[in-house]
Amino acid sequence: MKDILFYQLFESQSSTYTYLIADMETKEAAIIDPVWETVDRDLKLIRELGLYLMYILETHIHADHITGASEIRKNTMAQTAVSALTEIDCVDILLEDGRILPLGNKNIKAIATPGHTNACMSFLFEGMVFTGDSLLIRGTGRTDFQEGSASKLYDSIIQKLFSLPDETKVYPAHDYKGLTSTTIGLEKRLNPRIGGNRSKEEFQKIMEELQFTTPKKMHLALPANTGCGSLEIVRTMNPQSISGIPTVLNEDVFKKIGNIKIIDVRSPDEFHGELGHIRTSQLVTLGPDLTKYLEAGDRFEEIIFVCRSGKRSKQATEESIRLGYKFTSNMAGGMVNWNEKYLPRGE
Ligand SMILES: [Fe+2]
Repeated sequence: MKDILFYQLFESQSSTYTYLIADMETKEAAIIDPVWETVDRDLKLIRELGLYLMYILETHIHADHITGASEIRKNTMAQTAVSALTEIDCVDILLEDGRILPLGNKNIKAIATPGHTNACMSFLFEGMVFTGDSLLIRGTGRTDFQEGSASKLYDSIIQKLFSLPDETKVYPAHDYKGLTSTTIGLEKRLNPRIGGNRSKEEFQKIMEELQFTTPKKMHLALPANTGCGSLEIVRTMNPQSISGIPTVLNEDVFKKIGNIKIIDVRSPDEFHGELGHIRTSQLVTLGPDLTKYLEAGDRFEEIIFVCRSGKRSKQATEESIRLGYKFTSNMAGGMVNWNEKYLPRGE
């Protein structure tokens, strides 16, 4: 495969594989399942290799990470493509089963493989199949959310993927054990869930008995990815936005106590003073203290800022956005409003 370029790239937080493929006669390229955190790395690589990125392909709407599609699209001429069943309106190409995307002198073929989600696509290119979360290495994607269906996943794998030649190389969206690829022939034989001629009933039973935890970033990733990972959408998707600053109401903050970081940006005197503070809140005073604190933090952490009336916490939210935070918001009305509503206070 001298005239083909193939890169398997890895994002460690979500154990996601991103793939870069190209036809080297024309240098036309496609990227599959890019991740937000690694967009800069991917763009640098595309430039270094002198590739023309034509497509950004998503195997499905991911629940465990935010897509890099929107950021990559902004910086290249590439078109985004995802299954038509996602009903997303911010993509360029809505894919149907069997759709051919020309890549230079070669073709990428989209194969609908629903089951993990209803809108999963696999992509076939030059003897390789990129299976997303449908078929994994000695495993399969989960089927317990996002309209997942063990029955559909069984049909997709058996009828569509297992009908590919045995030597077809399989590249999934994840592997949690450090494995990088497999083949259709190996999975037919060795996949413990669906290999060895398992019946649909056996597969469904196995999938039903599996215990899963909810992906950490799912409540952020799903709405963000439905907006193609657009930064503007990510910033404003959860709370309502008041003059461009994500803002939440006291009642909503109250409901989130214990599940979200709350930073009180007042002075220590005020924090321990008359108006009190929210039980789980942490004191980091607006100014150099807060800036230093935020500079060292995780840009993907959800934080709500609180102050006396909502003014300083708005500044804190602005500061966090300036530093690249994506899920921070301002509690409107501050502790004044909190007390007016008789919401419980901490010691
Ligand atoms: Fe997934």
